[in-house]
Amino acid sequence: MKFLPLILLSLTTSALARGGDGDGNGGGNRTFGNETSPSGGESTKSQCKALARLTSLASLVSNETALAEASHNNATRAEALKAKASTAATTLTAMQANATLVSACAEIAAANAMEDACEQISKLAKLEALTANATALEAKTDGNATKAEALKAKAAAGAAELADLRGNATIAAFCAAQGTEDDCKEMAKLTKEVALATNATAVQAKFEGDADKVAKFQQRAAKAQEKLAVLQGNATLVAMCAGSKAASGSSSGSSSGATTSGTPSVAVGGVDSVRPMGVAVSLAAVFFSGIMLL
Ligand SMILES: *[C@@H]1O[C@H](CO)[C@@H](O)[C@H](O)[C@H]1NC(C)=O
Ligand SMILES: *[C@@H]1O[C@H](CO)[C@@H](O)[C@H](O)[C@H]1NC(C)=O
Ligand SMILES: *[C@@H]1O[C@H](CO)[C@@H](O)[C@H](O)[C@H]1NC(C)=O
Ligand SMILES: *[C@@H]1O[C@H](CO)[C@@H](O)[C@H](O)[C@H]1NC(C)=O
Ligand SMILES: *[C@@H]1O[C@H](CO)[C@@H](O)[C@H](O)[C@H]1NC(C)=O
Ligand SMILES: *[C@@H]1O[C@H](CO)[C@@H](O)[C@H](O)[C@H]1NC(C)=O
Ligand SMILES: *[C@@H]1O[C@H](CO)[C@@H](O)[C@H](O)[C@H]1NC(C)=O
Ligand SMILES: *[C@@H]1O[C@H](CO)[C@@H](O)[C@H](O)[C@H]1NC(C)=O
Ligand SMILES: *[C@@H]1O[C@H](CO)[C@@H](O)[C@H](O)[C@H]1NC(C)=O
Ligand SMILES: *[C@@H]1O[C@H](CO)[C@@H](O)[C@H](O)[C@H]1NC(C)=O
Repeated sequence: MKFLPLILLSLTTSALARGGDGDGNGGGNRTFGNETSPSGGESTKSQCKALARLTSLASLVSNETALAEASHNNATRAEALKAKASTAATTLTAMQANATLVSACAEIAAANAMEDACEQISKLAKLEALTANATALEAKTDGNATKAEALKAKAAAGAAELADLRGNATIAAFCAAQGTEDDCKEMAKLTKEVALATNATAVQAKFEGDADKVAKFQQRAAKAQEKLAVLQGNATLVAMCAGSKAASGSSSGSSSGATTSGTPSVAVGGVDSVRPMGVAVSLAAVFFSGIMLL
């Protein structure tokens, strides 16, 4: 709830109308996710964002303390927020009445929470590894024992949380699948870069013969080659990437969720599957009419 003022800052007509969020319709049909076409506001994800914003606004105006805080004790602003909430009430009610949308949003929220959990695990694990390695810790803290102790204390404070997160099989499976998918994407990107670097004609064309840029690119490509070799050295990973590529029929990691043998896309399938192929036309209409009123 402490994020309310922030949410409000973005609760402007343009923010609501913006809709499109980069990978809005990423899952089912690629053509829907065409960022160059103005299909913003239609995706389930953006509907969920709108639902969350409107819900926050409704709960904000129903709490005098929070409202006073958010409006900096300015009665004019408070009234404006109340008016906004009142106007949006119909839209909010319609959205909340849509059980499909509400459960899709709950699923997306759960997937987001899982992603947050993965990030938290990675952050705490890094801290744990750092504090367990005296050399690395000394380098990191410039030999300052006070700083080192502070990091150790931080790691100790996070140890229980890390153990809990690691001990959760659902989270572990999700993060492992997500990590594999990230690695597959990384491998595809590095492969392209390395392939380009071996084609002198293409490199010259790309950098318009600028020798400096070409040299820098070749340095990057050499690093990419090293990284790629490490990833490709993992036969399991290579096989899984090939599997998910075949299953999704595309090389750009747009897993449709409809996969066969436990491929990495299982994890994101949970998210993608809640993104409908078609778009909620009627709801979108309600949504947009709500914006017009705001
Ligand atoms: C995806 O888009 C293509 C092209 O517009 C269309 O033919 C196809 O039916 C769509 N697939 C789904 C599952 O909506
Ligand atoms: C996206 O839309 C633009 C303009 O309508 C079109 O030229 C382009 O081919 C589309 N790209 C995809 C991937 O559908
Ligand atoms: C109202 O908002 C205040 C300040 O944000 C918060 O501390 C309090 O818990 C809220 N009250 C209710 C009933 O949600
Ligand atoms: C209250 O907010 C309104 C609208 O933002 C502003 O015009 C007015 O100056 C503010 N009043 C005070 C006392 O800050
Ligand atoms: C500890 O950190 C140093 C410096 O980053 C690194 O070279 C070394 O391999 C690490 N040792 C272990 C056991 O991870
Ligand atoms: C070590 O770090 C602490 C905390 O950041 C700082 O207050 C102290 O001055 C540092 N000591 C030295 C010798 O740099
Ligand atoms: C594991 O994490 C999921 C997702 O956060 C949660 O719903 C579930 O209750 C957790 N399971 C256990 C045993 O803690
Ligand atoms: C190889 O990749 C798989 C799939 O991402 C992963 O589970 C495994 O830990 C990796 N093995 C090594 C040695 O990194
Ligand atoms: C190198 O790149 C050029 C220009 O993009 C392309 O025409 C050519 O087929 C490439 N050569 C190889 C061997 O891939
Ligand atoms: C409810 O929302 C879902 C998902 O956005 C949509 O497909 C459906 O058409 C909506 N139903 C109504 C009655 O608006």
